[in-house]
Amino acid sequence: MKKRIAVIPGDGIGVDVTREAVKVIRCLGPILGVSFELQEYGFGAERYLQTGETLPAGALDEFRTFDAVYMGAFGDPRVPDMRHAADILLGTRFGLDLYVNHRPVKLLAVDLCPLKGRGREDVDFVVFRENTEGLYVGMGGCFKKGTPDEVATQIDMNTRKGVERIIRHAFEYAKARGLGRVCMSDKSNVLTYGHDLWQRVFEEVRSEYPEIESRHLYVDALTMQMIKDPSQFDVIVTCNMFGDIVTDLGAQLQGGLGLAASGNIHPGGAAMFEPVHGSAPKYAGKDVANPLGAILTVQLMMEHLGLDRGADLIERAAIDAIEKRQVTRDLGGSLGTRAAGDALCEAMTRLAD
Ligand code: NAD
Ligand code: IPM
Ligand code: MN
Repeated sequence: MKKRIAVIPGDGIGVDVTREAVKVIRCLGPILGVSFELQEYGFGAERYLQTGETLPAGALDEFRTFDAVYMGAFGDPRVPDMRHAADILLGTRFGLDLYVNHRPVKLLAVDLCPLKGRGREDVDFVVFRENTEGLYVGMGGCFKKGTPDEVATQIDMNTRKGVERIIRHAFEYAKARGLGRVCMSDKSNVLTYGHDLWQRVFEEVRSEYPEIESRHLYVDALTMQMIKDPSQFDVIVTCNMFGDIVTDLGAQLQGGLGLAASGNIHPGGAAMFEPVHGSAPKYAGKDVANPLGAILTVQLMMEHLGLDRGADLIERAAIDAIEKRQVTRDLGGSLGTRAAGDALCEAMTRLAD
């Protein structure tokens, strides 16, 4: 079997961690009997600064021909307006209509959790972030920019179709995996148009899944409950902006941003995978970034490709590496990025026998 994957390392530590993710994919090939054909693209800040090009014309059509796209991270202090990231990252999410942003929050080792008295069984849920609408669409503008009378607007765009498909996906995911609880989070007490739409759609869709316990939390209350008792959640579904914020919070519950994975998926269509963290410029090229978030992102990609054994091996190897402290400094180890990637591959190979 052959699987073709487009790889865009991007900027900063995106390059460091993607190198380890690629190492893991290559290591899995012979174990799974799959030939992974990887094609790398140098899209990112450096290329943008040199050529003025962010995402070249035709790139999205090319991405569509792959089984999956893998990205590292984007962000460079030399591009303060993040123009290239908007085109490459958001451009891919929007252009391929990857409306599901799947972000698991799963504690792999009890001592990584910052909450007192919480174990692995307490922190295991999934956030589905709407990924193609909301405040991210770039609608709005400035009037009298740079003057004392300046006006700035940023429109929160919500469509019936967009809200319904992500809420429905959350219920379908819960149903398929026997997960009993779905929580929709919004700010409908204040956002009385856009999030009223979320309320109305949620009421409709939840009635089709009577076997699933569904409830609503305002997003401020959600952040409080995630810390107070994360065990109450199986599936959380929310809008683009709130999903961005609560998944950094969720990442901390599992041990930090260096561990958090994400998938951007159009069910039945294209998919792009990237760690939740950014390019952390101060750590770039220093062999200190934790590659596990990028590697657990490969786990999500393996699941998506139907390679469940590969996904399972990655998770078991990550747990093994964390237990043995064969990890980077942010997790209490002493390894560099490359050595942590090597340790993971070694554990996978051992566990595969
Ligand atoms: P960041 O995620 O890059 O880093 C925040 C902090 O988290 C770091 O200082 C570090 O302490 C920790 N961290 C993150 N990843 C880590 C890893 N792999 N190993 C160890 N520690 C890690 O967020 P930021 O500093 O707010 O943003 C830096 C740049 O990245 C900005 O330009 C931002 O816009 C961009 N960004 C890009 C993405 C993306 O491409 N998906 C996501 C978030 C931020
Ligand atoms: C993320 C990031 C991106 C987002 C930025 C870099 C555009 O924070 O993937 O979580 O806000 O979606
Ligand atoms: Mn984010």
